[in-house]
Amino acid sequence: MPSIRPVSLPTDHAALDHIFRTTSGPSFKPEPAATISSHLFCHAYAALEPRTSLVLVDSSNTPVGYILGTPDTRAFASRWKREYAAGLDLAGIARPPDYAAQGLPRPADFESSLLDLLFNSPEELLNLHVPSREEPLAGTWGAHFHVDILPAYQRQGWGAAMVEEMCGALRAGGARGVHLGLEGRNEGAARFYARMGFRRAEVVLDGGASGEVGRMAGENGTVFMVKDLVEGV
Ligand SMILES: CC(C)(COP(=O)(O)OP(=O)(O)OC[C@H]1O[C@@H](n2cnc3c(N)ncnc32)[C@H](O)[C@@H]1OP(=O)(O)O)[C@@H](O)C(=O)NCCC(=O)NCCS
Repeated sequence: MPSIRPVSLPTDHAALDHIFRTTSGPSFKPEPAATISSHLFCHAYAALEPRTSLVLVDSSNTPVGYILGTPDTRAFASRWKREYAAGLDLAGIARPPDYAAQGLPRPADFESSLLDLLFNSPEELLNLHVPSREEPLAGTWGAHFHVDILPAYQRQGWGAAMVEEMCGALRAGGARGVHLGLEGRNEGAARFYARMGFRRAEVVLDGGASGEVGRMAGENGTVFMVKDLVEGV
């Protein structure tokens, strides 16, 4: 019978990597996007936020799912470069220049953009610059997390159990609300989060270009969902 426990590094590193690579979307499958994005969406969280990083383990104590979060997205972003990216060595992948600091144009290709997010602009990755007419998402709903479970363990209630436990951990870490962004066409995940008490963020994003609240422009525009963790957020 699987169970949920805190992440333990470095022991769990390989299993976290396997879960990320198995569950990530098609654009993150080829190298080097797979390696870079594993740090963006998985390893940085486990390393920087062990108190809000939980794993679902099988009977041999090997992780088969994870939920990785932070109670304070702004503080997390400010630690990211100094405490995580600075010491990171992606064997065979060169560090990008700091385009903005050197007055260079930002890269347009997918892999260079991912590297730029990892080493230069985690604030953008963490949606701290999502233009909102109202208060930024990370102000009112300052926490966020990522959850992924290997296919053999999906749809058995473990995702719900991990989200419940994570909400408690985020609350204990001082969070008043949690936000998350998902690809606009990931309707399954949207239904899952709705079952978990999340609702579409009622804020106008991207200057209202999508025509919907809580949604960025574009065919697969990111949809933002939020959940209050305490009363009166
Ligand atoms: C999304 C995910 C975390 C959900 O975890 P899970 O363990 O499979 O979900 P649960 O069994 O706990 O389901 C909880 C509820 O959400 C619903 N749900 C879960 N996945 C769903 C889906 N794809 N479509 C519709 N409803 C879904 C369940 O039916 C259940 O509702 P119920 O209580 O009425 O029965 C998991 O399926 C997963 O890792 N998927 C692949 C990666 C992914 O999409 N991650 C999220 C990216 S934003």
